[in-house]
Amino acid sequence: MSAQPLKEVRIFSPATVANVACGFDVLGFCIDAPGDEIVARFSTTPGLRITKITGDDGRLPLDSKKNTAGVSAHALLRHLGKSDLGIEMEIHKKMPFGSGLGSSAASAVGGAFVVNRLLGDPLTRRQLLPFVVAGEAAADGAWHADNVGPCLLGGITLIRSNAELDVMDVPIPERLWAAVVHPDIVVLTKVAREIMPRHIQLETSTQQSGNLGGLLCGFFQSDYALIGRSLHDLIAEPHRQRLIPEFYRAKRAALAAGALGFSISGAGPSVFALCEGEAVARRAAAVRQRLRAGPVGFGAPERVRAARRASARTARSCDWPTRIGRPGTRR
Ligand code: HSE
Repeated sequence: MSAQPLKEVRIFSPATVANVACGFDVLGFCIDAPGDEIVARFSTTPGLRITKITGDDGRLPLDSKKNTAGVSAHALLRHLGKSDLGIEMEIHKKMPFGSGLGSSAASAVGGAFVVNRLLGDPLTRRQLLPFVVAGEAAADGAWHADNVGPCLLGGITLIRSNAELDVMDVPIPERLWAAVVHPDIVVLTKVAREIMPRHIQLETSTQQSGNLGGLLCGFFQSDYALIGRSLHDLIAEPHRQRLIPEFYRAKRAALAAGALGFSISGAGPSVFALCEGEAVARRAAAVRQRLRAGPVGFGAPERVRAARRASARTARSCDWPTRIGRPGTRR
């Protein structure tokens, strides 16, 4: 009698836009694409092993204790008392490194999520949060959930406290779209964090708090004008913009195209615009072609996404069950 093939699960783990201008380390949203794919299957050899990584140009460690996806998976398995379980993992990186699109977060989420799914979902998504944040922290040395939160939960996510992992869903206005542009340069999160100011003026903090509150009210009330008035970053953007050639030129063009606001995605170099309606999002995304054709250029090839309602998608051929992040539709 031939042996039954061992169970295998394949998941899709999407890219994210962190900070969303005024929510440094506390706000993020998930986009349709790109994203990583991770496969896990049971094995007769005890322990978690990463057997294959593609799309990384050989840069990521196969050692599961050093790999972001492996770290989150190990943390989960330890918690479940199943560290000796035989599991093989394959990681297919499908988004650029150092892009500001939450590449390491996608792997961190994917590692724990795929193992949880392989085991029949013993934990809920929310219960996976500490393990996926641990995976992300292994990659960039900082403890923040503004990428892993929306990657895991879908939609727009507010982190009231990173320390306590007090994470909440924020409603997505019906006509809210995002355009995300990735210039073909690398910005290391570590470097982008090092150039952040250590101290900020009281007035700056006050205005940034007002903007964050206004943005959240705008999301809750589907008030696009309020979203537009609030999408300003007075803390990270003034320092990080210099890592992104032609940032202000792109910003002016996106705003002229009708975007509600424009800022840096996560630590950069990707940039994003939030827009009311698909047509405006497409116009804002098209800005990159003008820039690319210009004398300085904006990097090539570029990745442009008019993300559908700024939320997660279900991967058709995969096992990522996140639905479009409408209120009340998430698990
Ligand atoms: N909130 C993070 C930052 C996102 O801006 O540094 C990047 O990991």
